[in-house]
Amino acid sequence: MKTKVIFATGNANKMREIREILGEKDFEIYSMKEAGIDLDIVEDGKTFEENSLIKSRAISQAAKDAIILADDSGLEIDALNKEPGIYSARYLGEDTSYDVKNANLIERLNGVEKEDRSARFVCAVSAVFPDGAEAVVRGTIEGYIGWEPMGANGFGYDPIFYLWDKDVSTASISPEEKNAISHRGKALRMIKEEIVKHENTCR
Ligand code: IMP
Repeated sequence: MKTKVIFATGNANKMREIREILGEKDFEIYSMKEAGIDLDIVEDGKTFEENSLIKSRAISQAAKDAIILADDSGLEIDALNKEPGIYSARYLGEDTSYDVKNANLIERLNGVEKEDRSARFVCAVSAVFPDGAEAVVRGTIEGYIGWEPMGANGFGYDPIFYLWDKDVSTASISPEEKNAISHRGKALRMIKEEIVKHENTCR
């Protein structure tokens, strides 16, 4: 019998990625909407891990027969005291365009040399199992903030997040290339290992 998994997201790209990584041979994978769950969750944690767990725990209350997965991600810029961090989506206001957010961050780094422009995308993914067990993992990708936006792929802060080895932004590489190295891809592969481990100990 396949294991039922619900991923706490409404984002179609994330659903595609989790389906590719977990594989549909052993898992029946649903989005929150597909599982008929509609919850308004207040993410008031202080870390990516806490916010991810707040979501997965809340949903597990509504669907006790499934493994619940949730993610929380954002951009940390070292020279800005790790801002925007867990407030990445809300930085300068939820409805402010990323053209404006990105221009603002570049402006705040005015005069900062390349080696001090280090930044990373972080993604925490948590799992709550039907027996109440929990797991949380963190994936990261290191880079630096460029001097101008580059590329039309991706979303959010991708146009200003540059890779050290390629000197191009993550908005300039293909989605497949990005998934192979991204914070989210890494965290999803790590949570798969946790799920497999948990399934094996429960058998
Ligand atoms: P969420 O946790 O997926 O909702 O992401 C939070 C915010 O972090 C997003 O709204 C983006 O601003 C930023 N973010 C997370 N991952 C990425 C990424 O891969 N590229 C660009 N921005 C990202």
